[in-house]
Amino acid sequence: MPFEDDIKSLLKDFNTELQKSGTKESLENLKNTYLGRKGKLSGLLGTLKDFSKDEKARYGKLANEVKAEMAKEFLEKQQHTAGGGSGFFDVTEPGKSQKLGHLHPYTKMREEVNHILYSMGFQILDGEEITSDYYCFESLNIPKGHPARDAWDTFYIEQKRNKNEELVLRTHTSSMQVAIMENQKPPLQTVVLGKCYRNEATDASHEHSFYQIEGFVVDETISVANMVSTLKQLLSAVFKEDVNVRLRPGFFPFVEPGYEMDMSCLNCKGEGCKVCKQSGWVELLGCGMIHPNVFKCAGYEPGKYTGYAFGVGFDRLTMMRYKIPDIRLFNSGDLRFIHQF
Ligand code: DAH
Repeated sequence: MPFEDDIKSLLKDFNTELQKSGTKESLENLKNTYLGRKGKLSGLLGTLKDFSKDEKARYGKLANEVKAEMAKEFLEKQQHTAGGGSGFFDVTEPGKSQKLGHLHPYTKMREEVNHILYSMGFQILDGEEITSDYYCFESLNIPKGHPARDAWDTFYIEQKRNKNEELVLRTHTSSMQVAIMENQKPPLQTVVLGKCYRNEATDASHEHSFYQIEGFVVDETISVANMVSTLKQLLSAVFKEDVNVRLRPGFFPFVEPGYEMDMSCLNCKGEGCKVCKQSGWVELLGCGMIHPNVFKCAGYEPGKYTGYAFGVGFDRLTMMRYKIPDIRLFNSGDLRFIHQF
């Protein structure tokens, strides 16, 4: 029975090859080879004409059954092959779970700090990151060649603005003080929260780009007492507990008198520990009463106003708040870090 043998072995070969085909393309080839108009099955059917009438009827029926079986198996395989192209979609198949995004600790902290400052009556601004040497230094009582400039490792920009205005990447947000005062008259209660840049070797507590909060309050009778009570209140709200502060003398050319403000160590409650080097206090920010030369640059009437200013590292605050040991983690792009907050 050569025809019966031939068609059975054709079916067997077809099944073996079908098993092996895993892609849309290989399935398409298989279909053409076996079931196409000039395929192997048509070829075999073409030999039927040489058989007797009875045999033709029998073999023809058998051939139809085999063809139906091949078509059925083909369809099943196609439906379970990726990109099978049949339009089949298995709604019972479990979906791929998507990882949810996460707010960066900066963003969370910024929202919180903005909310606190706003509720205390501060206007919150950002301002330009590329600014002039004038706003960043000279208007803040730091003339060219002044040794205090060494405290800020500055990125200077080759291009000039307005013919010969020298440009820098702001090294501190204090650079917005005079720019804002030029446009607004006291009473002023302003905070600038934004990015700053320094040509700094990086380590666990230094980055070349970081955030600072600069605050300043100007009116006719502003005193050091106002400054201390406002900062104490601000820090207590940020750290959600009663924070003690103390002032030490500090030098910043744009304030007189100038201070360093320390905060009681939150880790040991002032008892002394590794974090505060056994002192019970942590250095936190610079502050002081705004220097008359700064008011002069702002165009304010001499002697009419007093005011205080303070500058604090926003990264530092965030690190203390969330107990983050290394500033470089913020920009690491490591999702394992972000997902902890
Ligand atoms: N701008 C200073 C810095 O980056 C910080 C600072 C100190 C700001 C004293 C102030 C201030 O407003 O009064 O180091």
